[in-house]
Amino acid sequence: MAVLITVVSLVVFGFLFCFFLLKWNEIKYSRKGLPPGTMGWPFFGETSEFLKQGPEFMKNKRARYGKIFKTHILGSPAVISMDPELNRYILLNEKKGLIPGYPKSMVDILGNNIAAVYGPTHKYIRNNLLSLVGTPLVKNLLPKLDEYMRILLSDWDCKTIDIQDKTMEMAFLVQFKQIAEAEWSSIYDRFKTEFDKLYVGTISLPIYLPGTNYHHGFKARKNVTKILAELMERRRASAATCDDMLEHLLRDVDTSTTYKLNDVEIIDQIVTILYSGYETVSTTSMMAVKYLHDHPEALQQLREENFAIRNRKKAEEPLDWDDLKSMQFTRSVVYETLRLATVINGVLRKTTDHITLNGFVIPKGWRIYVYTREINYDPILYPEPFKFNPWRWLDGKLESHNYFLLFGGGTRLCPGKELGVAKVSTFLHYFVTTYRWEEVGGEEIVKFPRVEAPNGYHINVKKI
Ligand code: HEM
Repeated sequence: MAVLITVVSLVVFGFLFCFFLLKWNEIKYSRKGLPPGTMGWPFFGETSEFLKQGPEFMKNKRARYGKIFKTHILGSPAVISMDPELNRYILLNEKKGLIPGYPKSMVDILGNNIAAVYGPTHKYIRNNLLSLVGTPLVKNLLPKLDEYMRILLSDWDCKTIDIQDKTMEMAFLVQFKQIAEAEWSSIYDRFKTEFDKLYVGTISLPIYLPGTNYHHGFKARKNVTKILAELMERRRASAATCDDMLEHLLRDVDTSTTYKLNDVEIIDQIVTILYSGYETVSTTSMMAVKYLHDHPEALQQLREENFAIRNRKKAEEPLDWDDLKSMQFTRSVVYETLRLATVINGVLRKTTDHITLNGFVIPKGWRIYVYTREINYDPILYPEPFKFNPWRWLDGKLESHNYFLLFGGGTRLCPGKELGVAKVSTFLHYFVTTYRWEEVGGEEIVKFPRVEAPNGYHINVKKI
């Protein structure tokens, strides 16, 4: 009897304890005017459900609470907005106290970069970035982009390759060469090893203990900074002039503003460019290969467009700006890939003060997850939304639509948009005009929280 009473007491105590824990967050974050929703466990909130269920988590919550709801994910209380109108409003109104609110690991390791600053500082840093990677610059960058892409794709014939690995290498190496044209080969391996650790650190839990990815990420950030500082020193001491981004950062004075970047800011800019254009460009390229493999009629049209360009040029003649502009179907393939694979699920903002949005009062310091994924599958905007249909982009109307948020919007609209599209397009140009390919088969591609092939995506490649 005594044993039974002990067991029952323990069960009741355990039940009450769990109940109390679950209520803890609800009580801690209860405020008048907040959107409906649940806050989950202390500290962890609903992060594990969010990561496990992914888009289903969002859909279930929306079914229960509507397009705007509260939760606690990634270490912070948050409001999730799946309302296209409100999402657009948030992106266009940073000035009203809706600044970027990226997770702690990212902010800690990336430092005081463009995503961490706002107001006038953001404007200077962004203008400087635009002068390095913005649309007018793509024209100048194209010949080198073309050359690097040819070299990279030159020896894939009769090989089985992991296209995930290759597109990651492509995205990083091509960018790195554009930054430090003269020195890249002498520092690349050492730098890439450190940068990969830095990258993993930014997407891991912020637990600063030896052995954790977050800890490795911090160490890697220091090493990346050291390598770049040495590189800058060597470049300053050198009499030779180079035509690359580092040269522009070190020697050019921006005449449109009186602002001159200091060395720390220059290093931050280089890390930002490498970081922002890495997974976005590589994943889009990998997924384009996947969709083209599965849709031969789209591959056929892409080949026709790109062969037509090759046929009017000499063998070694690089793609130029006019070629790029004429590649309308290729661009449509890039957009459709970004939409269907949802390379970016949404963007994060943080409130600088209490703010009222759609009648709800969001407290100061809360995260707002501007969840744009569902817009990509809106059947009104994109009829048959789960079908890969690049032709839907051809008339250009969707690109100028209010809800075209594949590259963000407002003052944070991706400054590397055209460069990103140019990289994926140049990659596809050489890939589809040089090779045909077959999947090795049986490999999975997951779409959440990141688009990736956990065991690689292997294809057998042969020259056409
Ligand atoms: C397919 C390729 C790409 C996609 C889909 C993409 C997407 C995005 C999105 C959605 C944002 C908005 C983030 C926010 O609002 O918080 C953004 C911002 C940004 N992107 Fe990209 N991006 C791509 C390529 C690139 C490339 C190649 C670079 C640089 C070389 C780049 C640099 C940046 C930077 C620096 C920002 C922050 C802008 C700011 O805070 O003002 N992106 N990108």
